[in-house]
Amino acid sequence: MNIINDITALRNSLKSEQPIAFVPTMGNLHAGHLALIKQAKQLSDCVVVSIFVNRLQFLPHEDFVRYPRTFDNDCRLLSELNVKTVFAPNEKILFPTPQEFLLALPPVADTLEGAFRPGFFRGVATIVLKLFNIIQPNLAVFGKKDYQQLHIVREMVRQLNLPVEIVAGETVRAADGLALSSRNQYLNEVQRAEACNLYQTLLQIKQEIISGCKDFLTLQKNATNNLVQRGWKVDYISIHKRSSLLPAHADDVDLVILGAAWLDKTRLIDNLEI
Ligand code: PAJ
Repeated sequence: MNIINDITALRNSLKSEQPIAFVPTMGNLHAGHLALIKQAKQLSDCVVVSIFVNRLQFLPHEDFVRYPRTFDNDCRLLSELNVKTVFAPNEKILFPTPQEFLLALPPVADTLEGAFRPGFFRGVATIVLKLFNIIQPNLAVFGKKDYQQLHIVREMVRQLNLPVEIVAGETVRAADGLALSSRNQYLNEVQRAEACNLYQTLLQIKQEIISGCKDFLTLQKNATNNLVQRGWKVDYISIHKRSSLLPAHADDVDLVILGAAWLDKTRLIDNLEI
């Protein structure tokens, strides 16, 4: 397995590789990441995984500094999966000068996650575009766990005519339903036991919609109250159209329920398609 930090060396090593399947990550790999990598491997022999904790997508008060960095273990996991190339640049390589060119994003980027983490998707889109330009993959795999991120990356590719196919990977969950996330490590034992109730709440909403309930506002309000009573601080529990991520209306089909909520200082997100 090649572990490469440098852009020229990376481009040289990928010169005769076709097709290239790319999985961008911020490291601290868990079974969710590994599932995306296995999916990429089914699509191409040449899988490139990037590991880079991207400062541009963290607000000043967020967890950039304490975000778990486990590079050696990540590389061990990747070599067990026979990944061809790990691209692990440092900040000097990706930002030799301050990143002054930033993408301007569509209004959907200011909703849901973007409403609570202003600038987050601008940081994500900018780094993903840079990584696409550096690696020039034929396809890239993103997890549905970050549903709005997947939507925005797809839109960026479509509207900027980028020659890369975006492939979606299903969310990998723990046995109790909690979506795997690097941030789950911040939870103590009691919080970890409670954490699965975010997913349980989304499941309950899904059940009620399947049973015919169309009063989405009441469903959202009841679910929020439920979580608040259990000790959560809720940013949003919200039902949207899958295709546009606009708020859903009663007669819409193909829905997704998205949620973000805090257990003390840990923020968890999840979603469920209907
Ligand atoms: P990161 O949080 O490391 O996630 C990397 C990829 O793994 C993303 O596509 C994410 O959706 C996916 N992923 C995370 N948890 C998952 C789970 N439980 N099941 C399936 N897939 C899961 O997302 C980022 O990094 C960054 O924003 C990045 C795209 C790398 C840009 O910096």
